[in-house]
Amino acid sequence: MFASLEKKEKDITVDAMEERKVPKGQWVIKQGDDGDNLYVVHEGSLECYKRFSKNEEPKLVKTYGPGDSFGELALLYNAPRAASIKTVTDCVLFALDRETFNNIVKDAEVKRRERFEHIVSKVELLDSVDPYERSKIADVAMPVKAKAGDYVIKQGEPGDKFYIIEDGHAVATKVLHGKKDPEVVYEYKPGDYFGELALLKGEPRAANVIAKTDMALLALDREAFNRVLGPLTDILKRNTKKYEKFM
Ligand code: CMP
Ligand code: CMP
Repeated sequence: MFASLEKKEKDITVDAMEERKVPKGQWVIKQGDDGDNLYVVHEGSLECYKRFSKNEEPKLVKTYGPGDSFGELALLYNAPRAASIKTVTDCVLFALDRETFNNIVKDAEVKRRERFEHIVSKVELLDSVDPYERSKIADVAMPVKAKAGDYVIKQGEPGDKFYIIEDGHAVATKVLHGKKDPEVVYEYKPGDYFGELALLKGEPRAANVIAKTDMALLALDREAFNRVLGPLTDILKRNTKKYEKFM
């Protein structure tokens, strides 16, 4: 969330943060309450529970550890807390107040989320991901640029990144069985993804992916891929059938 800030803004934000020691077993946030702070975890771990409807028991939706942040939604959207968060060990948190958040972080964060929502709404693969988790992809995805003609992926190399196309077009090429030269086996447009096979199978890259135009991509490393797209592994595997005729 703070990645898009300039250095000066980051320094002001860090200075404004207040250390809070919270013992094990306490609620830091209760769903439905008003909220005036967002928190960054310095030490310890916490659990997040969300009640999805009135008659339902709250469900554990997430755990937090050092470096994670939470409690941003109430500040971003002036809404009641959307979930409850409890310490499971003694914790040291840094709290950022609403005023500093509004002055420094909010505008950039709202813009970044809007831009990102626009991109991910085009990615069919992500349709079934919980909207909150989907919005968190913005926090872990790295923007990558490619120029027309660049090899974004080279067949045979080790791979540890998964790509989503924000803008531009690409082709996958591959040396097919019994042939000498690579042939085009797939064409990509905005909203498509590639680079999942090396991560799913732990094998070298199975094809080249070459930019046909200048491109804007979002890259997820292995850790982010597993965390965010882990629940989609079955869908990703099923989708690899589309490559079968070009092996
Ligand atoms: P906020 O609504 O301010 O307070 C509760 C926090 O829980 C929320 O911000 C998010 O940071 C966090 N949270 C984690 N998972 C979810 C979820 N699935 N839906 C809503 N909030 C979530
Ligand atoms: P990966 O093997 O990680 O890197 C190359 C990517 O090209 C691969 O993942 C797929 O996303 C994509 N690709 C497109 N067509 C094919 C194909 N016929 N065989 C294998 N990979 C393909």
